[in-house]
Amino acid sequence: MIKISVLVCLLLCSCCFVNSSGQDPGSLLSLKSSIEQYLNNGTQPLNLTAALQGIEFPHLFRRDTDVSLFNKDFTCLTCDVLVNLLLVQFWAGIDKQTLANEVIFICTATKIEDQAVCSGLVQENLDIFEYIAKNDKKFNGHRVCGLLLQKFDCYPDKSDWKISIPPRGHTKKKAVSTDTFNILHITDIHLDPRYTEGKKVDCGEPLCCQDDQKTADVGDRPCGYWSEYLHVDTPVHLLEEVIAQSGVHDFDYVYMTGDLVSHRVWETSIEGNTETITRTYDLLLQNYHVPIFPVLGNHEAHPVNQYSEIGEESSFSMQWLFSLFAKKWSKRVSGEDTIMKGGFYTVSPRKGFRIVSLNNNVCYSSNWWLLLNDNDPYDQLKWLVEVLLKAEENDEVVHLLGHVPPGADCHKPWSREFNRIIERFSHIVAAQFYGHTHMDEFYIHYNSSNELEAIGVGFNGASVNTDLSNPSYKIYTVDSIAYNVVDMFQYTFNLTLANEDPVADPQWYTQYSFKSAYGLSSMQPMDMDALVIRMARNHSLLDQQFRYTYRDSDWAYQRGCDHTCRKKLLCTMVTTDASRTTKCKSILGIYDDNV
Ligand SMILES: *[C@@H]1O[C@H](CO)[C@@H](O)[C@H](O)[C@H]1NC(C)=O
Ligand SMILES: *[C@@H]1O[C@H](CO)[C@@H](O)[C@H](O)[C@H]1NC(C)=O
Ligand SMILES: *[C@@H]1O[C@H](CO)[C@@H](O)[C@H](O)[C@H]1NC(C)=O
Ligand SMILES: *[C@@H]1O[C@H](CO)[C@@H](O)[C@H](O)[C@H]1NC(C)=O
Ligand SMILES: *[C@@H]1O[C@H](CO)[C@@H](O)[C@H](O)[C@H]1NC(C)=O
Ligand SMILES: [Zn+2]
Ligand SMILES: [Zn+2]
Repeated sequence: MIKISVLVCLLLCSCCFVNSSGQDPGSLLSLKSSIEQYLNNGTQPLNLTAALQGIEFPHLFRRDTDVSLFNKDFTCLTCDVLVNLLLVQFWAGIDKQTLANEVIFICTATKIEDQAVCSGLVQENLDIFEYIAKNDKKFNGHRVCGLLLQKFDCYPDKSDWKISIPPRGHTKKKAVSTDTFNILHITDIHLDPRYTEGKKVDCGEPLCCQDDQKTADVGDRPCGYWSEYLHVDTPVHLLEEVIAQSGVHDFDYVYMTGDLVSHRVWETSIEGNTETITRTYDLLLQNYHVPIFPVLGNHEAHPVNQYSEIGEESSFSMQWLFSLFAKKWSKRVSGEDTIMKGGFYTVSPRKGFRIVSLNNNVCYSSNWWLLLNDNDPYDQLKWLVEVLLKAEENDEVVHLLGHVPPGADCHKPWSREFNRIIERFSHIVAAQFYGHTHMDEFYIHYNSSNELEAIGVGFNGASVNTDLSNPSYKIYTVDSIAYNVVDMFQYTFNLTLANEDPVADPQWYTQYSFKSAYGLSSMQPMDMDALVIRMARNHSLLDQQFRYTYRDSDWAYQRGCDHTCRKKLLCTMVTTDASRTTKCKSILGIYDDNV
C-alpha cells in the first residue's frame, strides 16, 4: 500500500510544476501522470514541500467569492486530481481519520479556509463522503468537481432525466384587477446569537464578529452594534428591529424564503440549528399577525447544504428538520405529508390563489447528495406538476416560493426541468420569490422556442443579512385577481450611519418603488424584458440597479460597478436555466454595442 505521507508529499509537489503565475494546466497534467506513474511503479517523488503553497484557492467555496479570479482549467483539473487521489486511498482501505487529515491539510495549504474552518467542515462531512463513496460506484473526480464547481463548468453533466409534463391546454391569463393587497418578503436572516460588538471585523474566517474571536486592537476595525458589511450575520437586536419596522406596513401575508442559521458553517449541529430555527420562527410568529409562508434554506441543514433523501433510521435523515418545520407550520399551511417527505408544501390562502413553497435546496450544487441521486430528489418536481395541473383545472393563480434562484448555483438538470415546468404553466404562475443571493435581483423566464418572448418573472427578497449590503425587506403590491406583482418597494437603512450612534433608532427609508424608479406601467414579464434591454443600452440604469442590489450600502458605493459587474447584473436578470446562456450572450451583445 502507498504511504500516505508520500502521497501528501506528491500533492505538495504539484506546486513544483506550477510556474510563477501559479495557474498552469499543463503542469497539473504532468503532476497527474507523475502520480499515476508513482502508483504504478514506485518511482520516488522529489522534494515537494515548498511547492504546494504555490497553489492557492482562497475561499473557493464561499458564496461571495469572485470565480472569475480563478483559472478555470487549472481549478477543475486540480480538483479532479485531488479527489481521485483521495478516492484511490479510500478504496485502498485507508482509515477515515487519516483521510480527513489529508483533506484538512489540502484545504488549509491551498488557503481554501483556515485550520479551524477546514477541520470543522471536513469532520462534519466525512461520514457523508464515506457513505456516498461506498454506495456510488461512479463516484470520481469528474463527478464531484463537476457538481461542486458547477460555476466553472468543469465537466459536462450527462444527466438527462426528464419530468413528464402533459401538454398545454388553454393559456389564457386572468385580467388584472385594480384592487390590490400587499405581501411582505423577508429573507436570509442568518440569525447570529454569537454576534459580538468590538471584535475584529477582518477575522479571516467565513464569519466574523464571533464571541470567541479576537477583539479588535488599535488600528483594527471593530464590529459595530448593528453588524458590518463583510462576513457577518444578523445580531438578534437587528432582527427584532427589522421585524418591528416591517410590522408598521399593511400586508396580508409574509413570504419568508429561508436561511435562518448563521454562517458559522464549520460548527453546526442539529441542536444548534434547531435552537436558531425555533427562535426565529417564534419571533416571526409572535410579531406578524397575518399568515406567514416559510421556505427552507440551505443553511437550515446540518451539515450546511446537505439535504439527503435517506429515511428515518439513518443519521443522515432530514427528519429532524422536516418535523421541526412541520411542527411549527403544518397546521398553518396544511401540508404535513409533503413537509415530512421533503420540506415542501402548497396552500390556498384565498379562493383562486395558491402558494407553492419548494425546498429547492436539493438542487444547490454544494449538496453532495446529488452525487448519489440527482433525479428529482423527493419527487418534488413531479409533485409540482401535479399541483400545477390541479391549480390550472381549478382556475387558480400561483405564487411559487423557493430559496435558491433556479438560474444560480442550481444543479443544471434540476434547473432545466424546473424551467420546462414554468414554461408549461406560465399562464398560471404569476410570480416567483427567492432568497439565497442576498441581493435585490429579478429573473426573467423566456420561451425556449422563442427567446424574444418573456413568460415569467422571479423576485429576490434581498436580505436582512448585511453581507455587502444594508439590511432590507420588501413589500409587493399584488392585484387581487391575476395576482401579478404591480409594484415592489424596498426598505433599508444606512448601516454605517446607524453604527455611528447605536442608541438612536436606525433611519429607515423607502429606497425605491420599482415602477416609479424605472418609469414602468406594469411589471409583467414583457415589460421587465423591455427594461433589461433599456439597461443594456443605458448603463446609468444599470448603475441604478447596482445601488438597489446592495441597498445603497457604503461597500457598494465605494466599490462602484465596472463593466464586468454590470454584465454580471444583466446576465443574472435573464438567466433562469443554469445551462442556457444564449439570452445572456445576446443581452451582452446589446451592452457591448452601447459602450
Ligand atoms: C516507471 O514508469 C516510467 C514511465 O512509464 C518509466 O520511465 C520508469 O522507468 C519506470 N520506473 C521503473 C522503476 O519501472
Ligand atoms: C525541500 O524541502 C525543504 C523543506 O521544506 C526546503 O527547505 C527545500 O528548499 C526544498 N528543496 C527544494 C529543492 O525544493
Ligand atoms: C413559445 O413560442 C412558441 C412558438 O412561437 C409558441 O407556440 C408557444 O405557445 C410559446 N409558449 C409560451 C409559454 O408562450
Ligand atoms: C451612510 O452614512 C455614512 C455616515 O454618515 C456616510 O458617510 C455615507 O455617505 C452614507 N452612505 C450613503 C450611501 O449615503
Ligand atoms: C438613461 O437613464 C437615465 C436614468 O438613470 C436617464 O436620466 C437618461 O435620460 C437616460 N439616457 C438615455 C439616453 O435614455
Ligand atoms: Zn443566505
Ligand atoms: Zn442560502
